[in-house]
Amino acid sequence: MGAGHDHHHHHFLHLSGGSGTFEGWRSRVYNVLARWPMRGVYRRIAQEVAAMAPKRGAVLDVGTGPGVLLVELAQRRADLTLTGVDLSADMVALAQRNLAKVADRASARVADVASLPFADESFDLVVSSFSLHHWEEPEAAVAELARVLRPGGALVIYDFTRAPFDRLEQGARERSLFTGAPSQRTPFRAGLLIPGASVRYVMTAAGADSPRPR
Ligand SMILES: C[S@@+](CC[C@H](N)C(=O)[O-])C[C@H]1O[C@@H](n2cnc3c(N)ncnc32)[C@H](O)[C@@H]1O
Repeated sequence: MGAGHDHHHHHFLHLSGGSGTFEGWRSRVYNVLARWPMRGVYRRIAQEVAAMAPKRGAVLDVGTGPGVLLVELAQRRADLTLTGVDLSADMVALAQRNLAKVADRASARVADVASLPFADESFDLVVSSFSLHHWEEPEAAVAELARVLRPGGALVIYDFTRAPFDRLEQGARERSLFTGAPSQRTPFRAGLLIPGASVRYVMTAAGADSPRPR
């Protein structure tokens, strides 16, 4: 946890800087926070995502942490196939435990957003909450996220205002990705337990009938 990470210490969503941030005891503390005091945030995000996901759709949660958003989604939409990925094996283990009751339609595995272990056009919707600000290369991530989304699919990212939304946007523009509906950045009230302003960012992949890059 070098001095360069000091700006990250403002809120408990980022318990410390450095690579061990979401490993070991920190992942267990995070799990307790996510399951109890922060639960309402996931309920609200799940409500929004549930309203967007198509019937029997496949949904990916990037940087799922302990998977509480997927638990909330599974409760609302039994028709969805849910997948979570996270860089931290400890977080994935917690997510698998939290998803045990819905394991027939929800799973979690270790993966980096910049290198997703899924075939092209695997998902109808990709969601991510409070993870973007940890991604090392948002530009590389945007290409992967576009690759795994089906035509017309949406990417919905919730994070602090300071997260690198601009780099995502620029990465998409440079590669002519997410050329569907214009992207939207709107304020998101995460609640009293998550200090600081948050944003809901939506990008849409080119539809089956709109011109797509080749
Ligand atoms: C603050 S937690 C958010 C967890 C959960 N989405 C939530 O809203 O509570 C950030 C998570 O992103 C994960 N993460 C960071 N960089 C990642 C990357 N490049 N690819 C996948 N996951 C990543 C971390 O391991 C951590 O579990």
